[in-house]
Amino acid sequence: MRPRRRRIVVDMDITNSTVFIPGATSGIGLALAQRLQAAGSTVVIGGRRTSLLESLAAEHGFGTVQIDVSDAASITAAASSVLEQYPSLDAIITMSGIMRNEDLRSPDHLDDALEIIQTNLVGTIRLIDAFLPHLLAQPASTIVTVSSGLAFVPLTATPTYNATKAGVHSYTQSLRQQLAGSSVSVLELAPPAVSTDLMGGADFGGMPLDAFADEVIELLASGAAPEILVQNVLPLRFAERDGTHQQIFEAMAARAH
Ligand SMILES: NC(=O)c1ccc[n+]([C@@H]2O[C@H](COP(=O)([O-])OP(=O)(O)OC[C@H]3O[C@@H](n4cnc5c(N)ncnc54)[C@H](OP(=O)(O)O)[C@@H]3O)[C@@H](O)[C@H]2O)c1
Repeated sequence: MRPRRRRIVVDMDITNSTVFIPGATSGIGLALAQRLQAAGSTVVIGGRRTSLLESLAAEHGFGTVQIDVSDAASITAAASSVLEQYPSLDAIITMSGIMRNEDLRSPDHLDDALEIIQTNLVGTIRLIDAFLPHLLAQPASTIVTVSSGLAFVPLTATPTYNATKAGVHSYTQSLRQQLAGSSVSVLELAPPAVSTDLMGGADFGGMPLDAFADEVIELLASGAAPEILVQNVLPLRFAERDGTHQQIFEAMAARAH
């Protein structure tokens, strides 16, 4: 007898969710926060920069919570605060992330590597742990993790960053499968290069932030797939399948020099 496939729910109602986005004081998180709120959702933003949290709350009416996802105690405190103020919370987007160049010939890179892992990978895991019991108790809820096109083809200059994003991709797949048949949908947003301050404002030829965020909202609204893939990321996402991995890998390495 063939094993029965458990149903995997992938819908997020962007017109009526209560969503927490740690990592929305700038860039992609902020652009999505604005669009989700405009679509009708209640949005709580998080990050370390309190002055930005205050000004964004005043300007847009977001809920805010200070959070450092590299610190376990900060995640626990932020989760308690969000859930106390927003008991109907039914979505989180684990957006917080940092990206750094590393010279692997220099032992100095290790501090950066550990910080990147702690923020991008351990932070994602801890955030999910902190919110999962609550999300499982909701009739329908969503976790959106944030990987990257670089999870699929690495950028030579940013080894640990690429590795954490590949880790987020893999972790998300297991999470989705473990939660199949539950009330929690697990989505993965894998952005291509997008023009933000992620690398301290360095221009790495990213697509315009507004165009990216609009395309993501369209994909979320259509509820099509558990991976949220804008057109620009498709060559990276499917490079291995398409036999173009080595060619794209080398071209990206050459472009960065
Ligand atoms: N831009 C791209 O090309 C691109 C491509 C693929 C994936 N991504 C991913 O998209 C996400 C957002 O990046 P972005 O491009 O929008 O860059 P960004 O503008 O620098 O945003 C990064 C966000 O993460 C937050 N953050 C960083 N460290 C944190 C920590 N320890 N605790 C809590 N929040 C923290 C920052 O807030 P505070 O500084 O206020 O804490 C900020 O809100 C990241 O996960 C990134 O890896 C970006």
